[in-house]
Amino acid sequence: MASVVNYEMVEYAAAYLEGRLSVHPRVAMVLGSGLSDLTDQVADPLPVDYGDVPHMVTSTVQGHQGRFVSGTLRGQPVIMMQGRLHFYEGYSAAMVGFPIRVMRHLGAEILVVTNAAGGLHPDFQAGDLMCITDHLFLPGLAGHHPLRGPNDERFGPRFPDVTPPYDPDLQRLLREEAHAQDVTLRKGVYAMVAGPSYETPAEIRFLRALGADAVGMSTAPEVVVARHAGMRVLGVSLITNVPGDFSTDDQDPEAMHKQVLTVGEHAVPTMARLLTGVLSRMTSEK
Ligand code: HPA
Repeated sequence: MASVVNYEMVEYAAAYLEGRLSVHPRVAMVLGSGLSDLTDQVADPLPVDYGDVPHMVTSTVQGHQGRFVSGTLRGQPVIMMQGRLHFYEGYSAAMVGFPIRVMRHLGAEILVVTNAAGGLHPDFQAGDLMCITDHLFLPGLAGHHPLRGPNDERFGPRFPDVTPPYDPDLQRLLREEAHAQDVTLRKGVYAMVAGPSYETPAEIRFLRALGADAVGMSTAPEVVVARHAGMRVLGVSLITNVPGDFSTDDQDPEAMHKQVLTVGEHAVPTMARLLTGVLSRMTSEK
């Protein structure tokens, strides 16, 4: 399994996918745990399994399908990742960013990332949606960074300024859409941990003290790669649990992941409506 990504790999994968797309994508979307149903709303969907794409690897996580789906959603030509790659699966941070580079190469200018996350802000409840305003990329700060190693300027600059990581105009569109739909939208800082173990109570206090409002095991590597490549990014977290949910004596590890998926199932229609509404607004923004 490749842990390093070079330009030729991206070109080759993109060339393969290009022949199997139904549109020239403007928006790339990463659908996180339990959120993959959004592809049901895509007109003329054309799926391609990750395993068929050169150099691409498959997602090994339950609830993650592992395919690209292209098509039109609310007038927007989109390419979606139904299931993402995670660092905790053993993939390098660079490999986690590989499909983002491929979608960028195919023409995507905007990246919409979604994820399931644990709520840290005391006001948050399971089922809440959070607009990501910034992130703490903890594995990245500790050296597991997707841009570590030789830099190819065709991807982007050696020392990219990724500020603002999450595009203020896209955040505004999301807020406006949430308001129009009467959906409560939280906002906050997403902390990425490597996982796969959930946080201990001390780690939760640590993350809270750092200023994190939600915690999850994904997203930041993809966002950094997208920003390096000049994409605008919108991020939305689905809060699937809050501290204390997983700390009962009869805790069953299977039950934890199941809760993450189940809350996802319930909030999916709301999340889907919100995201499709934002896509419509992006069309008029163009
Ligand atoms: N911690 C980390 N990742 C997660 C959580 C959590 O509590 N919930 C969903 N993904």
